Order: sequence, then C-alpha cells, then structure tokens
Amino acid sequence: MTAPILPADDPASIARAVEALRAGGLVAIPTETVYGLAADASDPQAVARIFEAKGRPRFNPLIAHVAGLEQARAEGEFSALALRLAEAFWPGPLTLVVPRRAQGRVCDLARAGLETVALRVPALPAARAVIAAFGGPLSAPSANRSGAASPTRAAHVADDLGDRIDLILDAGACPVGVESSVVAVIGEAATLLRPGGLARAEIEAVSGPLLAPDEGAAPASPGMLARHYAPRATLRLNANSAAPEEGWLGFGESSAGADLNLSYSRDLREAAANLFAYLRRLDGEYLQIAVAPIPEEGLGEAINDRLRRAARR
Ligand code: TXA
Ligand code: MG
Repeated sequence: MTAPILPADDPASIARAVEALRAGGLVAIPTETVYGLAADASDPQAVARIFEAKGRPRFNPLIAHVAGLEQARAEGEFSALALRLAEAFWPGPLTLVVPRRAQGRVCDLARAGLETVALRVPALPAARAVIAAFGGPLSAPSANRSGAASPTRAAHVADDLGDRIDLILDAGACPVGVESSVVAVIGEAATLLRPGGLARAEIEAVSGPLLAPDEGAAPASPGMLARHYAPRATLRLNANSAAPEEGWLGFGESSAGADLNLSYSRDLREAAANLFAYLRRLDGEYLQIAVAPIPEEGLGEAINDRLRRAARR
C-alpha cells in the first residue's frame, strides 16, 4: 500500500489529512522550507511512528508546528527577546527553542525528554490550513528516511516513505528549500543551533550577535548529527571543474557545462530552493558529485552547512 498524494489546495485533502492525524497517523505536509512528516505532537504513540518511519537511529527532539504566537506561548516561555524574534519572523522559516511550559501539550518523546521545546509557525498556506484545522501542535521533522536529503517535492516523499505513511499533501516545490534556522532563546541570550532558511544577518538585525552552540548558554541540539544529509554518492566540495565520471553541480556562470546549476545568476535563495532536488537527481546518476564553491553569506551559510554534512563519510 502506498500513500495517496492529494492536492493541498483542495479542502477535501485537508479534511482527510486531519482525520488521519486525529487517528494517530502520519501525514506528509508541505511547508515553505521542506516537506515535513507530521503527527499529533501530544500523542507519544503517533510521535513514535515518526521515528519508526524515518528509521531514525535515536529519538531526536522534533519541531512542534503551531498556528501562531498564542499557541506557541501555551507550549513555551517567551522572554522579551523570544517575543521580538517571533513577531519579526513568524510565520516563516525560523524555529525558536524556548523553555517548555509544564501545561504544554507537546509530549516528552517529541521533546526527547528535554526541558525545552522547539516551536515554529510555518508560512506556507497548505501547512497553515492543516495546523488550523487540526487545532493543536504537530511534530514534523523533514519527511525523508534518516540520512537522506530533505524532500522539497511530494515525489521525494513518496520515493522515501510512500509505503510507511498514510497520506502525502502535494503543494509543488518548496519555495525556500532548506530547513528552518533553529535559534535557542534562553532569557536574553540567543544561540544559532542550526543555520537555515532565514539568513544570520536578518536574525541578528533583531537579536544582536548570535552565540555559537559551544558558547555555553544553549541547550545541546541532539539532532545536529555530523553526518546527516547524506547522498549515496561521494561529494567533492569547492570544485571548479568536474572529472568526466563525476556529476557536476554548478553555481554561477563560471560553472559552464555543469550537469545542473544551482543558480546561474548566483542568487542564493534560488540555490537553496534547488539544492536538495538537484542533489537527489545527480545522486541517482553518479557515484561522485563535484560541487562548485558557494559563498558563505546569506543563505549560503545554510547551503554550505548541508553540503559539508553530506560530504562527510
Ligand atoms: O524547516 C524545518 O525546520 C523542517 C520543516 C518540516 O518544518 N523541520 C525540521 O525538523 O527540519 P527536524 O526535526 O528535522 O529538525 C529539528 C531540529 C534538530 O536539529 C533538533 O536537534 C533541533 O531542531 N531541536 C528540536 N528541539 C530541540 C530542543 N528542545 N533543543 C535543542 N534543539 C532542538
Ligand atoms: Mg531532516
């Protein structure tokens, strides 16, 4: 049995998704970053199914997706700084890790037993429709098997998880293409746990300089495994040309003759949106992939973070 793929803009699809979620099932939902594998965050059995379907080696804490700030504040404690960040960037590709509230609905398993909770308000209308209709927080990691590239198309989800989940909602390609930036806010200290779809400079314009995870204040981010976004092929980074047997993932006009080009015009947003889909395509065709240098600025920080993880053996 393989999960049906339903159009996310049809109210009947949303109704079926909510029905499956209420029954403790798994539904792949599109967000502006990547497709997420959603389950009822308050139901430990449903959350356990997420780990089982992904084949995750351990119980990493998951992001709880909520409808807005009000729902978020029922789950976590927002300092003045956390509030400023939420007001500036929600809905959008920013996840805030804050101290949890004892009365919150996100279950222990979804938080991996931590005293903090990761919260995000997605911007994509399809995701918002599901969360609003469901009425409570949804845990959702990226909807891929553990170790595979994150899915940015419904077909990627079907390839990886089609036989293990209940339903896939299809809203086409994800506009951002890399996962949300994860920022822990404990009191008035903000720590960047994972670079992502919101550029560091945009966050820092509101928070001031972000701390690095090893600078103390932040809780550990157990999900940041060194080897994570791992294609089957070997990756060779900062490559200005490719050998005949290599696939070549280019960036900018200087990568003439590349198999695929993340962005001819060196637009880092376009490159982020193409990243995982292009890696998947080349991974099916080549044993080694040469990747052009990507500048470490704006969304380039998140792109290079994912590429370095994918290159690690
Ligand atoms: O864009 C995204 O964020 C996607 C879409 C589906 O929303 N979701 C996603 O979720 O990437 P996931 O579960 O793959 O990533 C969650 C990240 C991990 O790095 C995890 O360690 C961190 O958030 N995290 C979650 N809860 C945490 C907590 N309480 N403390 C520290 N880190 C936490
Ligand atoms: Mg993931």
